[in-house]
Amino acid sequence: MNLSFQSVIRLNNGVEIPRLGFGVWQAKNGEEAENAIGYALEAGYRHIDTAAVYGNEESVGRAMKKSGLKRNEIFLTTKLWNADQREHRQMKAFEESLARLDTDYVDLYLVHWPVGGCISETWKVMEEIYRSGRARAIGVSNFKIYQLEELLMGAEICPAVDQMEFNPCMQDNELLAFCRERGIAFEAWSPLGSGAFTRDNTAVQIGKKYGKSGPQVILRWILQKDIIVFPKSVHKNRIEENRNLFDFELTEEECALLDAMNCGKRTGPDPDCVDF
Ligand SMILES: NC(=O)c1ccc[n+]([C@@H]2O[C@H](COP(=O)([O-])OP(=O)(O)OC[C@H]3O[C@@H](n4cnc5c(N)ncnc54)[C@H](OP(=O)(O)O)[C@@H]3O)[C@@H](O)[C@H]2O)c1
Repeated sequence: MNLSFQSVIRLNNGVEIPRLGFGVWQAKNGEEAENAIGYALEAGYRHIDTAAVYGNEESVGRAMKKSGLKRNEIFLTTKLWNADQREHRQMKAFEESLARLDTDYVDLYLVHWPVGGCISETWKVMEEIYRSGRARAIGVSNFKIYQLEELLMGAEICPAVDQMEFNPCMQDNELLAFCRERGIAFEAWSPLGSGAFTRDNTAVQIGKKYGKSGPQVILRWILQKDIIVFPKSVHKNRIEENRNLFDFELTEEECALLDAMNCGKRTGPDPDCVDF
């Protein structure tokens, strides 16, 4: 599989998204997040995944400016929070994100979680945002099949992306197949289980053959599944480690070992139980 750091996936509206990005959940707004994003941009990452609720959109905006890169050289994702759906302030929340990010558009805007009773109302606003040109693509996060079906029933625009927890222990292959059939690109959140799998023995053993770490093996395994991924770290050495995924290729047998770890155990919340 011929992949490079510059490899992209073409979304269902033709927009291209870098397959490997940088996640910033739990990177503290201010010096920590700004430095981490600075290291990532310096290391060549051109795709940042944030969210209003991460509280660090200002740092993302500042780090992008500081990098000296042109806005259109960076693929930027942010997300609409649940309370803003319940309070019918989807458009206002989007505009507040743009202001905090200090940009006039995002590359991808996602509904962070499916909120019961709000799915079609929220998606209508997402479509309006897309039509205004201030989001180059729109999508969802944490939508299971039945929630996507509900959304699709009233949708004029099909989501470009579904972002879902995906790691060795949590592989929803049915959802992945459903998305593929409909041209919805799949993004993996918590690829390292928010740190839980960084020392996973299966991955570490596989990595020995290639001189690669456990995290590198897991990230490469996800990329080889044609899934978009954005590991988070605030450490320069790990940020660099996590992008060095393109000088080795896992065999089918090695991928099967990681596939076999799937037990449906989540590290994050189940989208059926969103009460936040
Ligand atoms: N849509 C959603 O609901 C949702 C939910 C969760 C996450 N996400 C997105 O997905 C991104 C990634 O998920 P995540 O932040 O949960 O966690 P993750 O990327 O699975 O793991 C990050 C954790 O692993 C550590 N780590 C990273 N690289 C490492 C390495 N090479 N060696 C050892 N430790 C390493 C980090 O520590 P240090 O930072 O200390 O280095 C951090 O504690 C998020 O940042 C966010 O953008 C989305």
